[in-house]
Amino acid sequence: MNDRTALVTGANKGIGKEIARLLAQQGCAVHVGSRDAERGRRAAEEIGRGARPLVLDVTDGDAIGRAAAQLDRLDVLVNNAGIAPSLAPPQETGIEEFRRTYETNVHGVLAVTNAFLPALRRSPQPRIVNISSGTGSLAWSTDPDHGFSVSGGGGAAYRSSKAALNALTVFYAQALAGEGFKVNALAPGLRATDLNARAAGSDGDPAEVAPEAVRLAWLPADGPTGRFFSWDGSSVPW
Ligand SMILES: NC(=O)c1ccc[n+]([C@@H]2O[C@H](COP(=O)([O-])OP(=O)(O)OC[C@H]3O[C@@H](n4cnc5c(N)ncnc54)[C@H](OP(=O)(O)O)[C@@H]3O)[C@@H](O)[C@H]2O)c1
Repeated sequence: MNDRTALVTGANKGIGKEIARLLAQQGCAVHVGSRDAERGRRAAEEIGRGARPLVLDVTDGDAIGRAAAQLDRLDVLVNNAGIAPSLAPPQETGIEEFRRTYETNVHGVLAVTNAFLPALRRSPQPRIVNISSGTGSLAWSTDPDHGFSVSGGGGAAYRSSKAALNALTVFYAQALAGEGFKVNALAPGLRATDLNARAAGSDGDPAEVAPEAVRLAWLPADGPTGRFFSWDGSSVPW
């Protein structure tokens, strides 16, 4: 893994930072994506050996272009950057919240992935890991035995953005299968991070997500693609 390179978006804190940390610990050169240069610098410094900051706002086309121009080859892209503005159901959510959420969680993934495809195509084993959410699973959301079905449609902008990300995962996997890509989605489970205001008392350690993200990053040639996995490696229904 010593000659491998990875990019994790939104890696200055939370789950992304833990994924970047584990990749770096395993000897991978990791670009720590951060929209704020100083936050990215601090995170890369804290992770230490193998980590380097990369300024990258996933909603800024120019910034994405500048970042992509800096990388010749990329083996692993972890689309992690995400926002979750509110827990409101659709009838109480303004169009602006939907726009802002999709801009980061969906359009951002599309723009970053497309911009880094040339660098990924120079890898012998290109891998893309999309950090989704179990709350974006329509199967779980409609299963009366699953907790997500009793939410009253809460978190509509966020959850539908992750359902859209899941669809993108499938389409990228299908489109790039012939080129040796593996593209999978990962549901991290409830984690105590800034995104969910520490999830109403959740103590889920974001570091627990990193091993599964790294497994998907280093999938062998006969590994799965176009699949949705939970942080514990089990399958999540779409
Ligand atoms: N925590 C959970 O329970 C949970 C559950 C399911 C899925 N997830 C997913 O896990 C991923 C990471 O979330 P987290 O919980 O670690 O949240 P977090 O601690 O708030 O981290 C989110 C990261 O995304 C970055 N980000 C936001 N907008 C960005 C943009 N436009 N460009 C670049 N970076 C941007 C943030 O940067 P700044 O510091 O600059 O804001 C931060 O680095 C998200 O995709 C989230 O949906 C989390």
